[in-house]
Amino acid sequence: MSSSPPSSVLSTSMRSDPCGLLRRADVGRTVHLGGWVHRSRDLGGLVFIDLRDRTGLVQLAFGPAWSPAAVQTLAAAVGVESVVLCEGEVVAREADRVNPDMGTGEVEVRVRSLTVVGPAVTPALPVARGRGDKMPAEELRLRHRYLDLRRPELQENLVLRHRLLQVTRRFLSDGGYLELETPILTKPTPEGARDYLVPSRVHPGEFYALPQSPQIYKQLFMCCGFDRYFQIARCFRDEDLRADRQPEFTQIDIEASFIGRQDIMTLAEGLIGSLWREAGHHDVPAQFERMTYADAMEGYGCDRPDLRYDLRLRDYSAVFAGLDFAVTTTAMANGARVRGLVVPGGAAWSRKQVDELEALAKGAGAGGLLRLRKADGEYDGPLAKFLTDEARAQFALEDGDLALFVAAADRISSPALDRVRQECARRLDLVDEQARRFLWVLDFPMFEQDPVTGALAAVHHPFTAPNPDDMAAFPDEPARWRALAYDVVLNGTELGGGSIRTSDPATQSRMFALLGIGDAEEQERRFGFLLEGLRAGAPPHGGIAFGFDRIAMLLSGAPSLRDVIAFPKTTAARSLYEGAPVEVPADDLQELHIAVRAAAREARS
Ligand code: AMO
Repeated sequence: MSSSPPSSVLSTSMRSDPCGLLRRADVGRTVHLGGWVHRSRDLGGLVFIDLRDRTGLVQLAFGPAWSPAAVQTLAAAVGVESVVLCEGEVVAREADRVNPDMGTGEVEVRVRSLTVVGPAVTPALPVARGRGDKMPAEELRLRHRYLDLRRPELQENLVLRHRLLQVTRRFLSDGGYLELETPILTKPTPEGARDYLVPSRVHPGEFYALPQSPQIYKQLFMCCGFDRYFQIARCFRDEDLRADRQPEFTQIDIEASFIGRQDIMTLAEGLIGSLWREAGHHDVPAQFERMTYADAMEGYGCDRPDLRYDLRLRDYSAVFAGLDFAVTTTAMANGARVRGLVVPGGAAWSRKQVDELEALAKGAGAGGLLRLRKADGEYDGPLAKFLTDEARAQFALEDGDLALFVAAADRISSPALDRVRQECARRLDLVDEQARRFLWVLDFPMFEQDPVTGALAAVHHPFTAPNPDDMAAFPDEPARWRALAYDVVLNGTELGGGSIRTSDPATQSRMFALLGIGDAEEQERRFGFLLEGLRAGAPPHGGIAFGFDRIAMLLSGAPSLRDVIAFPKTTAARSLYEGAPVEVPADDLQELHIAVRAAAREARS
């Protein structure tokens, strides 16, 4: 699908055609073009300029009407990245000068007149890049974002983003969903990150929070009877950043009433299918695979497994129980399990390479990574001399296999083995880059429990409904309750997540109490606006939110969210172009009733 509207849509009183859409059928026409000088070439007196706009490039040529001296003077005056207006005639290129790599490669525009309307200073980084040219450092690109955004790759990413937004809006409004807006200056909504706070000038000492998501507002819409809501919602979270996280990001946020889990999953599958088709991928399954959270953690050590490769984790505790190996025996006596994976071909790795895997496991909190190699029929590693015939049979290693184990509590072994598994797959080149394994992860636990204090925290958020069967079966053991929550995952990336909500106000109050907000007054102070809405007559409801930037990143093939966000933040949460955050004048702070501590000021300088 073309990413440009038809030529006529883009024509104005100043330009007849966009640059990139001229074709052989236009030969003989007089055109007025406007664009940026992408590059100019002087081939021994013959000057060519590539003119660029968002639709692409066209070659400008200077015919016999121009004297060589006049062309040289003009070319010298027109700096790269300057904006020019030109008038000329579209002519066919001679056969040996046709450029099949260029949309406009069969034609060129023979210039009659050319005016520089926006001269450019020497660009701080090149926009035009030759094949094999190295990309400038990202920091420099972010600092000069006004130039970086001129690069065709980034322009394509943002155009794709636009198209995906249009598909989303069409898909959801066709499904009866209303696009409704919610406030940006809000009351804190717990989504697990820190809030960005905005001081109130008129209410000294009081703060708004920027929304981590529109969660409570969208539930209130359901209480108001809007029935089906969506929003392309900007969310703000002050959390540790990674390539797939930004402090300010966009969600496709959805909520509906009189709806169950299956309804939302069907809706989400339909929306994802439409988005992927828009980007040219027609192979999205109508229904995604499903896995319980428990199975995901057991088999892959994480709640968003990448199913493009196997390398599944297994519980080897029963095998180790029969071995007289002190490390694992002691760990198991303390309640640990021994879990691990078998890596075919891993026996060929050097000690250093396996040490690197161990470092990954340790980085995730494990005490170590136990190894057992089988090569040329021989076992090797600290375990080897403790192996019994029975254990050898149970491990069932093939020649060339490397088995790796972690003896620890699951909350430690899972993230450690997840990292090891991912790194082994990368090293062995097991990841099929073309494969798309969409997956629903279901039946998340409602709470996670602090191993030291025993305190409960919501795994999703406090508004998710617990599974009523579990509440009935284990009324006094909330740590065993599963939630009516679901995440949609693609190749190890969480695309979105949601849940069926607690629509009964008494149950919602109980959830707050389990989370340590038992005091009725505090509940009203923090969440009264939700509880009142629920008490006023709430329909059963649920929803989901997709990380829109992540979707745009995956569909554009970009390596980072920063490549699909026009003005992104760095991993240090800074905008390098506009230069935010900044110190503000003392008077402004005073008006906001804010004093910055001297220590904070010193830390900055
Ligand atoms: P959740 O917190 O899972 O759910 O967020 C939904 C999706 O948003 C994306 N996402 C992010 N993308 C970029 N940068 C970030 N910092 C970031 N954080 C999250 C992820 C994630 O799957 N209110 C609930 C949804 C609901 O229950 O309906 C919520 O926000 O792709």
